[in-house]
Amino acid sequence: MSAEPLIDLTVDYHLDLLATGVVLLDANLHIRALNLSAENLLEVSASRALGSALEELLDESNEWYPLLQQALSDNYPMVRRAIPLTTRTGQERTVDITLSPISSSAEQRCLLVELNMVDRLQAISRDESEWQAQATLKEIMKGVAHEVKNPLGGIRGAAQLLAGELAEVNLHEYTDIIISEVDRLRTLVDRMLGPRERLESEATNIHEVTEHVRQLIEAEAKGQLSIERDYDPSLPDFMADGGQLTQAVLNLVRNAWQACGDGGLITLRTRVLRQFTVGGNRHKLVCALQVSDDGPGVPEDLLPRLFLPMVTGNAQGTGLGLSIAQRIANQHGGLIQVQSVPGETRFTMLLPMEI
Ligand SMILES: Nc1ncnc2c1ncn2[C@@H]1O[C@H](COP(=O)(O)OP(=O)(O)OP(=O)(O)O)[C@@H](O)[C@H]1O
Ligand SMILES: [Mg+2]
Repeated sequence: MSAEPLIDLTVDYHLDLLATGVVLLDANLHIRALNLSAENLLEVSASRALGSALEELLDESNEWYPLLQQALSDNYPMVRRAIPLTTRTGQERTVDITLSPISSSAEQRCLLVELNMVDRLQAISRDESEWQAQATLKEIMKGVAHEVKNPLGGIRGAAQLLAGELAEVNLHEYTDIIISEVDRLRTLVDRMLGPRERLESEATNIHEVTEHVRQLIEAEAKGQLSIERDYDPSLPDFMADGGQLTQAVLNLVRNAWQACGDGGLITLRTRVLRQFTVGGNRHKLVCALQVSDDGPGVPEDLLPRLFLPMVTGNAQGTGLGLSIAQRIANQHGGLIQVQSVPGETRFTMLLPMEI
């Protein structure tokens, strides 16, 4: 059978810009056309999909196949919400399905299938509100940090003058405490102020960033830690502030190391995502950089506020590492997401690639 499209969907390349997966099936439920979103969603390339039965490309556990036949034989459009869809590789998704029988000629009927990923839409709106919350919080933090920072210089200077006036040397112990505590506070406030506002963007190779961090941590861990790499070599250079990204990745890897401890396994993974929405904006290409570890997972009570400053599960932690990393990702138009279960925690930094 020829795999020529009955209705030529592919000529209109705009279909590839749609977030909705679009598949055209013939009367035998073989794929005659599909757009880029459908390729991503079904995890199949167009060359593999064209001419194949949809059922062959998905896991047999999917229970909605009879709907396709029904929509075709009834010649009646159908909408089903929140249907579970399992790809061949076992990825589970929740999709809204719209089935529209169409006839290109009297005897030739085919079926237009629209697939909308519901879980992805939920993630997008969650990301968007997280993004806004971060922006508001940043303003508050900056205000507080400046207010605290201003008098610190004065206090330090006064303590130094006082030390000069104090004849009794053993009283210097107290002025020394004031000075060292002021210094500690200043470092903390500087971290609260976060990364510098202006990015120094240049063409950056993300693997240079991850390799730099890997070498730093491996040198510190002295062979107690395994760091695996799973890089996408097709990832192009893109405009970014390499120094800031190094700081963000270092914060994530350091956390992973603290979580899984010596003997743990950390994986650095990179991928290119096409036509992907980050923080409410759709991008042609997005770099996904994932740091995963096999530690016990993020404590459940911390998860909803993990990226807020001062949230920590460690006695010695300041709780600033993740908020700084998130802010750096935001400055690049991206964000960091987390998925965590005991034994597998993944922090994924999504960075739009404006090449
Ligand atoms: N990979 C991970 N696995 C388990 N828990 C994690 C992981 N990453 C972060 N956390 C939890 O999130 C908390 C906040 O992390 P964050 O980096 O913001 O602060 P911190 O590590 O406590 O302190 P700081 O980084 O400022 O020194 C951590 O204290 C830890 O409880
Ligand atoms: Mg940390």
